[in-house]
Amino acid sequence: MRNTFYVTTPIYYVNDVPHIGHAYTTIAADVLARYKRLQGKQVFFLTGTDEHGKKVEQAAQEAGEAPLHFANRVMQRFKSLWTKLNISNSDFIRTSEERHTVAVQKFFRMLAEQGDIYLGEYEDWYCVPCESFWTDTQLVDGRCPNADCRRPVEKLREESYFFRMSRYQKQLLRHLEENPDFVQPASRYNEIVSFVREGLRDLSISRTSFSWGIPVPDNPKHVIYVWFDALLNYISAIDYYSGGERFQSFWPADVHIIGKDIVRFHAVYWPTFLMSAGLPLPKQIFAHGWWTIEGKKMSKTLGNVIDPYQLVDEYGVDPVRYFLMREVPFGLDGDFSRQAIIGRINSDLANDLGNLFNRVIAMVQKYFQGIAPRAETYEAIDGALKDKAVAVCKTFDESMNQLAFNRALAAVWELIGLTNKYVDETAPWSLAKEPGEKKRLATVMVTMLEALRLVSALLSPFMPRSCETMWQAMGSEKPLAQQKLADVAEWAAITPGTRINKIPPLFPRIDTGRAS
Ligand code: MSP
Repeated sequence: MRNTFYVTTPIYYVNDVPHIGHAYTTIAADVLARYKRLQGKQVFFLTGTDEHGKKVEQAAQEAGEAPLHFANRVMQRFKSLWTKLNISNSDFIRTSEERHTVAVQKFFRMLAEQGDIYLGEYEDWYCVPCESFWTDTQLVDGRCPNADCRRPVEKLREESYFFRMSRYQKQLLRHLEENPDFVQPASRYNEIVSFVREGLRDLSISRTSFSWGIPVPDNPKHVIYVWFDALLNYISAIDYYSGGERFQSFWPADVHIIGKDIVRFHAVYWPTFLMSAGLPLPKQIFAHGWWTIEGKKMSKTLGNVIDPYQLVDEYGVDPVRYFLMREVPFGLDGDFSRQAIIGRINSDLANDLGNLFNRVIAMVQKYFQGIAPRAETYEAIDGALKDKAVAVCKTFDESMNQLAFNRALAAVWELIGLTNKYVDETAPWSLAKEPGEKKRLATVMVTMLEALRLVSALLSPFMPRSCETMWQAMGSEKPLAQQKLADVAEWAAITPGTRINKIPPLFPRIDTGRAS
């Protein structure tokens, strides 16, 4: 059985600096990549930047810079953000790189050899921000029909190369019907199925009206359409050109994580390109929802764009990662507000998790001089916590495999809640007063530590740094990142005699200025 896992993010346009929406997609992909590594899979996690096209060319012009120079600068903002957010990508592809250019040209030639590319003339409405063409009937009030855009369009008429997408309509429809999980969530799947049912037009895949792009092989008057160019990053980065080892091991991708705005490109164009090239299709395309800010669409004009750098400086990297994954079911739209993030930090992180952890560690210090004791006999309440832990692991695993990150987290919080209850009900502070209860106290300590070990392992894909700190405080030899979940999720794995260390509070409460 294949033990590899390939996950991607969209490659982000460099016409603008990164915002919270970009951070969201990349964090989600990172969480999944880390989880799969913890499961023992060999993971390839790709992100990068989309640097060609009219939009980037225009932005560079406005900045008075050459496009590549401009791209170098903005690309760096993405790269350093990923470092700041503790993103564990395996590679970072830029579409201006040589390895990408050669792959795109090879692919273009291949489709041409199939007879799937021809020269024609195009006349239609073009939306520059979306880099997409629309027909008269598709326009809404004369504007871009994309609900998240609705900006003015311009008429373009050019000589253009076309891809015979219409040829693949039936094949794509069949693939969709046979693989209902191909596009997720179901609402997006249904949208795509009806779009494809209506028929596919051939697709214009070259431009002559500007020059910032990859030249069409043998006709450099044309540059390749930016979406044709961009989608190929998913294979150019894994050595498609040379058919190398990476390509053999990792293609087809397990999941392309994208925002709902770009489903059509991924679930219609991309598969038809691959069909024409005779390559296997990605296993899944998962489209998440859109973030609004305090109830409003995020926009420069409104001045409400959330800068992820600032957010991390203010709240810390793990709380930001946690909040984004916990607040909204992956696939649905969500709303960002300061109140919501502070609420999550104070209640879920500081209160439920942070306090529990510090309380347990402090008790092991106080009653057992910081050395994990041996548990000999267990009572029903200990068994109940263990049973809950087993159930949580199962729900967690199922949820993670469905990219239901918030459900996975909710399950862990059920275990945290029950552990807090366990502490209150077993009342170790009372047991400590009774000399005859030393054995019982030992079992209670060990049971609590077990729950915390498991919690830190399960949460580590979401909050890698904090979990590693918790993990090490509990005396674990090997870092969590080098462990397999199957080994660490085993209940009763704490070796008696292990040193348990105190650490400073992991998630300090945020003072809202209000008494609570
Ligand atoms: N370059 C193309 C993608 C090519 S992939 C082969 C592109 N780039 S983009 O910079 O515009 O990034 C789009 C992605 O950013 C969305 O698909 C989504 O993942 C993320 N988001 C941008 N704004 C967002 C929100 N307001 N909310 C959530 N995610 C959003 O499209």
